Amino acid sequence: MNLSEALAGRRSIRSFKLEPVPENIIKEVLHAGILAPAPSNRQQWEAVVIQDRKIIERLYKDAGSQEQILHCQCLFVMIVDMEFNKENFSNVQATAAAVQNMQLKAVDIGYGSCCMAGIGDVQKIKNILEIPDPWLPVCFMMLGKPTEAPSAPARKELGEIYHFNKYSSKSERMQSSVFPKDWTLNQLRLHQKFVSRAYKMGVDYEFYDQEEIENIKDIVKENLVGKKKVLTLLGYDGTIIKNLDPMFKDYDVIDCELSQEAVDFVKSKTKNLKFTLFSDKIENVKDNSMDLIIIAFALEKIPTIDFMLKEAKRVLSKNGKILVFFKNKNSFYGAMYKGITGPLGVKHLEGFYIRSGPFSPISASMLKKDIEKLNLKILSQGGFFLVPAEVKIYNEKFAGYSKRHGKKLSVLKYGMKPVLGFSNMLFNITKSYNKPFMAVTKYFILEK
Ligand SMILES: Cc1cc2nc3c(=O)[nH]c(=O)nc-3n(C[C@H](O)[C@H](O)[C@H](O)COP(=O)(O)O)c2cc1C
Repeated sequence: MNLSEALAGRRSIRSFKLEPVPENIIKEVLHAGILAPAPSNRQQWEAVVIQDRKIIERLYKDAGSQEQILHCQCLFVMIVDMEFNKENFSNVQATAAAVQNMQLKAVDIGYGSCCMAGIGDVQKIKNILEIPDPWLPVCFMMLGKPTEAPSAPARKELGEIYHFNKYSSKSERMQSSVFPKDWTLNQLRLHQKFVSRAYKMGVDYEFYDQEEIENIKDIVKENLVGKKKVLTLLGYDGTIIKNLDPMFKDYDVIDCELSQEAVDFVKSKTKNLKFTLFSDKIENVKDNSMDLIIIAFALEKIPTIDFMLKEAKRVLSKNGKILVFFKNKNSFYGAMYKGITGPLGVKHLEGFYIRSGPFSPISASMLKKDIEKLNLKILSQGGFFLVPAEVKIYNEKFAGYSKRHGKKLSVLKYGMKPVLGFSNMLFNITKSYNKPFMAVTKYFILEK
């Protein structure tokens, strides 16, 4: 295999044959690592190579390493001498170069590999593997005979990364703020591109609880009666829309998204939709043509709610309705969001916000003002849940999260555990609540 073939053919492999990796292969791969460049040729990285299943299981169970390591027979734990790492993380850079060589060698000899930075609690990893200071585990590399052949994930265009002689900002940079008001629509499009490159956008967003989705389905079903033309606005990755899709069989439904990437994902999950894009307006949809417009948890993600509603009004037919579902700022959800973005300090996209993008719950009274300004009328409103259904999901995920972050977690974040447990209990007691006042999920039904 020549170098170009290895460069193009290397994929991150996460599923392996259940056979041990022979020692000569391990040595060959490590030797490729040694050939990599290193600052002053110091080569201050080493590898703890693990083939013992029990140790791999401990890394998963006790240190919160990713579950996929259980599927590999040979795990390289790459460690870096941190004492000589002061100048631009030079030893970490050298380790990255070594891992790249090792991954290319693996392809060359018919093996698959995956580099992982999400390794879990480094202190626990050090304890389990008896790694002394100043060594720091910085990444894992799984190695084995592949049992999958994934296709190449999308890459950036050359023009997106290329500067000549000096930095030229050709394109808008993606934001990192959690707050939609800091974003432009174009930056949101960049975020959708970014998430789609990570494949995650195609996977259902796991923070919508099924009970919430069922409630939404019921309300949409009631409002579909007697309608013909339906528009769904900014479904993002299709998690909600795919649940509505079976209801759309006998309707003429168009889904409007900010980016082609979002269209592609909604398309892949639904059968009954046509698609259009939002440029600075809803493209290819005539004035006064839509009988029902469904906006589900979309206004929370955009900077210009009034602008989006204005466009919805433009395409709404004379007797049509707009159905807006939103997370209520004046509810337990809003308080939780305040806690996360306030005392817990999450102001930039991290954790689940990387995937969802910017998001902030909506104040019903502010939304009412926008609605009134546009001369739209609120026909009726409703709501459900006093406690967010998501606490159930947060609760399940928290154990893994705290294991991964170990001692790095602040006392405040540790304190989340009992709070989440208690909230989950409250959710179960109050889940049949269905009034708008303080409801977590609210909806307005609007008309012209
Ligand atoms: C520094 C680094 C860290 C990574 N961390 C993880 C990880 O924690 N888990 C994982 O499954 N893949 C991880 N990957 C693999 C990337 O997801 C993968 O390289 C990327 O999606 C592109 O796919 P490809 O390697 O098949 O081209 C990592 C890759 C690099 C270079």
